[in-house]
Amino acid sequence: MTQTTKTQVGIIGGGPSGLLLSQLLHLQGIETVVLERQSRKYVLARVRAGVLEHGFANLMREARCSERMEKEGEIHHGFYIYDQQAGKQRVDLHKYSGDNSVIVYGQTELTRDLYEAREKMGGIVIHNAEDVKPHDLTSVSPFLTYRKGEDVHRIDCDFIIGADGFHGVSRKSIPKDILKEYEKLYPFGWLGVLSRTKPVSPELIYARTERGFALCSMRSQVLSRYYIQVPLSDTEEGWSDDAFWDELKQRIPADDAARLITGPSIEKSIAPLRSFVAEPMRYGNLFLAGDAAHIVPPTGARGLNSAASDIYYLYSALVEHYKKGSSKGLENYSARALARVWKAQRFSWWMTMLLHRFPEMPGYDRRLQDIELAYLFSSDAAMSALAENYTGLPF
Ligand code: FAD
Ligand code: PHB
Repeated sequence: MTQTTKTQVGIIGGGPSGLLLSQLLHLQGIETVVLERQSRKYVLARVRAGVLEHGFANLMREARCSERMEKEGEIHHGFYIYDQQAGKQRVDLHKYSGDNSVIVYGQTELTRDLYEAREKMGGIVIHNAEDVKPHDLTSVSPFLTYRKGEDVHRIDCDFIIGADGFHGVSRKSIPKDILKEYEKLYPFGWLGVLSRTKPVSPELIYARTERGFALCSMRSQVLSRYYIQVPLSDTEEGWSDDAFWDELKQRIPADDAARLITGPSIEKSIAPLRSFVAEPMRYGNLFLAGDAAHIVPPTGARGLNSAASDIYYLYSALVEHYKKGSSKGLENYSARALARVWKAQRFSWWMTMLLHRFPEMPGYDRRLQDIELAYLFSSDAAMSALAENYTGLPF
């Protein structure tokens, strides 16, 4: 038998995008239900973003979820770019972005904060929801169905939000003749390792070498996150911890390699690099947000930060709808969101093309890559463009 309930906004996906929107709307008296395919434990075991822009942090504040982020998050005023030939140069974000900075605070932690806030307010987040399906999207009364064990449930909604990531069901529910997809795949992935060790550098190091790209990042002063570029054919199992540390040492500056503290990996995974945008981000009463609509390679640390502007635009539009009876924000959502999404795409593509070693790259392209970096290191204007994008363009 199907059990039917009702809510105002049905949200597919209990990742950061879905949870943040649910929390913000609840604070405005707008009812939501979040359907998440996985368990809470599974979602919290995914190690992903580490760098947040202040726009995202401000939304966490507005959602009253920022207490731990303010205490434990680290403000970073700059990072390093290292090139084997050109050496190591600091990108002074503060100077070049007009006093802006970024916050180092893990996605795992902020997702935990959002879950706790939802729980405290009695928000409805349904985990292990199987076979979630959106229906009647172009009607005024769309609905969701899902299965939990033997029981089938139906939720009637005013609006459905697809915040279910790249592999979710929402985007796939938009007819193929309406949805246009743009995609660029890169011929490598990032092998990431999390280890309970002191980070090698107080600020992030992005390294470009003949052996490939590497990134030294962190989650706290006792938790390091490192990445190396690997071929797509590699597997986590094929990389022992020792092999990972040896390779990392060869890709970072010698003085950093000498002081690198290694330890057992507590998480190790390979993420493929992809650029992707789906247009439009609205179909009837379904609205896509975050990774469900767009993906960037992690090089520019833009993924979650791009989701933040979607959430902000959707939140404002839904509040405008319910409080002022105006549907203008909802009408404009897709165009407004995509305008910022494409800027993050451009920046992430640029940083990825600049710093990675491409297999079989023609000599001409390699020389252009060299000169792009030399220009960056020598030009205040180029540094400002980098800093402005890395710290986040305005919403
Ligand atoms: P997701 O986090 O993918 O959440 C979607 C949720 O929907 C998931 O919990 C999933 O289980 C659920 N779901 C999927 N299908 C269904 C279904 N059918 N039914 C119900 N639920 C479903 N971004 C940054 O801004 N800064 C960084 O430093 C950064 N670093 C990164 C490093 C790596 C290695 C990676 C891989 C990504 C990084 N990102 C970074 C990107 C960032 O992690 C993503 O952009 C972010 O997770 C997007 O959040 P989301 O909520 O939109 O999607
Ligand atoms: C991370 O810490 O996971 C991280 C930081 C910066 C990036 C990508 C990932 O550009």
